[in-house]
Amino acid sequence: MVYVTRRSTFSASHRLYNPALSDEQNEVLFDKCANPMGHGHNYILEVTVRGEPQSDTGYVIDLKQLKEIIKREILDKVDHKHFNHDVAFMKDSIPTAENIAKVFWKILEPKITEGKLHSLRLHETENNVVEYRGE
Ligand code: NI
Repeated sequence: MVYVTRRSTFSASHRLYNPALSDEQNEVLFDKCANPMGHGHNYILEVTVRGEPQSDTGYVIDLKQLKEIIKREILDKVDHKHFNHDVAFMKDSIPTAENIAKVFWKILEPKITEGKLHSLRLHETENNVVEYRGE
């Protein structure tokens, strides 16, 4: 089994806010991340696909195609956008890195037809990274 990873970057804003809670409760829970106008991050997304290299190409997945899938399905919809306001597929989730990774998985998993999606790693800051493997 070989694991192939495509790394992408995008910039986006978010505000951590649970509409079921009061403003005060949100402030206690999310602190500065609940600031009304939100704030931005330079995210790094690592998408890993696993499989056996195909006999005709030697690739698990053609990375040019993986790049195109990630661009079309994810980056074009989130880069320079505000997760709370501009991104339709995030409208029902608090846009933490955890929830973003899970939603990205749901979108990407069925689009990857060579190999299998193995993991998504989303770096929100230099020090904070989440990883999701679909379960
Ligand atoms: Ni943040």
